Amino acid sequence: MPFVLHKYKLLWGLAAMALAAPLAAQQSGKLEPNTMAARMAACTACHGSQGRAGPDGYYPRIAGKPADYLYNQLVYFRSGQRQYRPMQNLLEHMSDDYLRQIAEWFSGQHPPYADPSPSRLPAAVLDRGRQLVMEGDPRRGVPACVACHGASLTGVLPAVPALVGLPHDYISSQFGAWTNGLRKAIEPDCMADIARRMTPEDVSAVAGWLSSQPVRSATPSSGLPAPPPMECGSQMRVEVRQ
Ligand code: HEC
Ligand code: HEC
Repeated sequence: MPFVLHKYKLLWGLAAMALAAPLAAQQSGKLEPNTMAARMAACTACHGSQGRAGPDGYYPRIAGKPADYLYNQLVYFRSGQRQYRPMQNLLEHMSDDYLRQIAEWFSGQHPPYADPSPSRLPAAVLDRGRQLVMEGDPRRGVPACVACHGASLTGVLPAVPALVGLPHDYISSQFGAWTNGLRKAIEPDCMADIARRMTPEDVSAVAGWLSSQPVRSATPSSGLPAPPPMECGSQMRVEVRQ
């Protein structure tokens, strides 16, 4: 499997780079030039140090997410399948290899999580949110989120992200983007299908419940106990591309 070999080579390269960065520079908050941390300063300006999330409740955390998930998103932003102009400008001239390296680097960062913000939604709405996440809504064909994002919602390797640790407004705007076609993954695009089956009230309830859950770590699990209820193309993309 050439992909696996490639990945290991990259990890060794990254490990060597990390060792080369003097601890003193890291501790003083100054970035040693020619390290990934320094090269990623343009990204961490918005995404927070090490990619821990921006301070304004929107810029998502990217640290510690599955590397293949991050890689897919970078490819989507570069191609316009996900739209955010400042990122597209930054990524435009970056090669697949460099995007892969960036994805591996952020995936290997594990800064602490901020405390969740308590939701202002009524308890009954939050309970509806919890129910959708845990059980879905069979009447409208909405599968339980845990069936793909993992029982503890911390994501599943290789390419399903965690649902904990995301801000309320970020979650609800992703559902908006799937519904109106501004966020697309490779077909079959399971999240776009799911988003179209949910009402605005469902989305608000889910975003409220998820964003108020405390999170100490969102280490993705390595597999699901049962096959996912729908096919998701983004899960297969990595193998397809190699
Ligand atoms: C001007 C601010 C800004 C800069 C600079 C920026 N980002 Fe982003 N990034 C965002 C915003 C805002 C989003 C969410 C966009 C959306 O709503 O889909 C995002 C989303 C992402 C996502 C998807 C996260 C997820 O959970 O799906 C990744 C990965 C990412 N950025 C990586 C990067 C990398 C790597 C760089 C540097 C090359 C970078 N960003 C630079 C603001 C920024
Ligand atoms: C059939 C499997 C499946 C189910 C069920 C599912 N998801 Fe997803 N979800 C995915 C996949 C795969 C991705 C990554 C899509 C991509 O690559 O852009 C994803 C991505 C997401 C993201 C983007 C996270 C980020 O960091 O940007 C959110 C939010 C999300 N799902 C919410 C939900 C919610 C809420 C539910 C339940 C109502 C749910 N998902 C059910 C497979 C699923």
